[in-house]
Amino acid sequence: MPDSPILITGGAGFIGSHLADALLARGHAVRVLDNLSTGKRDNLALDNPRLELIEGDVADAALVARAMAGCKGVAHLAAVASVQASVDDPVATHQSNFIGTLNVCEAMRQQGVKRVLFASSAAVYGQNGEGRAIDEDTPKSPLTPYAVDKLASEQYLDFYRRQHGLEPAVFRFFNIFGPRQDPSSPYSGVISIFTERALAGTPITVFGDGEQTRDFVYVGDLVQVLVQALEQDWLEVGAVNVGLNQATSLKELLAAIGDVLGGLPPITHAEARAGDIRHSRANNARLLLRYDFPKPTPLREGVARLLGR
Ligand code: UD1
Repeated sequence: MPDSPILITGGAGFIGSHLADALLARGHAVRVLDNLSTGKRDNLALDNPRLELIEGDVADAALVARAMAGCKGVAHLAAVASVQASVDDPVATHQSNFIGTLNVCEAMRQQGVKRVLFASSAAVYGQNGEGRAIDEDTPKSPLTPYAVDKLASEQYLDFYRRQHGLEPAVFRFFNIFGPRQDPSSPYSGVISIFTERALAGTPITVFGDGEQTRDFVYVGDLVQVLVQALEQDWLEVGAVNVGLNQATSLKELLAAIGDVLGGLPPITHAEARAGDIRHSRANNARLLLRYDFPKPTPLREGVARLLGR
């Protein structure tokens, strides 16, 4: 069925909308299920007849079942991405971040849809592996409701694989950045916050000394892997880290932004965030072995695209 769509939950959001663009460009039909809580219509090419938007919540089992009808695969990206929101209101975020996964699994089982891509997170490792390249076998230590829901979702997906033949392709994202990432909360991704402030000329706050490092991945590089995971015949059993195995400090990030814009607003320092991991970097050997990962977009280039330069 060439016109069977791929369902993207959270498809109007940051990563989901880039995946929608990539799948449409490759000739797939795409159906997006999104409650537009953080996702935006503007992120979607709604004039494309091969794209359909269903507005609603992944926590609504009946709606998920309806959205699944006739689909050939699923990318399950819908979640409340704010870790802080999960700390503040675990019951509400659990509906999206865990019950949503279960609803997707059940709808797939009932309708015989096999392939599902799942967006898990480096948060499942907690502080473990800090300062080393964190591999997938690093002991899990989910320290927040967000991380617990991601890890439990992974484990449920594996149950549905063993019991019902689902084909879950699970990815643990490290720090993804790029256009359309929402900068509006203090807990948004640091690159979206810093670039927004640099453009507006408002002061940038660095928590701690700015020597902490993260493994930043440009969203366009990630999406190339996600497309493969949906299209290829074989299934990688078990989770795959998505990172570059590259440590970039906040100071280096600021230098890159300053380089692109030709200057920076004032930088202020505040206390390091409680519970912040100092160095987070992925061992990405499994990713490189199992997927055709593109030559990574250099940070400066990704930042320039984000800034529209
Ligand atoms: C990510 C999550 C975070 C979660 C953590 C653990 C995102 C956007 N953040 O945090 O919610 O608790 O993984 O799994 O997914 N920073 C500043 N100034 C700012 C904003 C951030 O200095 O205005 C610093 C932070 O303190 C941190 C670094 O920048 O040291 C990166 O922050 P962030 O983008 O939130 O990513 P993680 O810390 O990896």
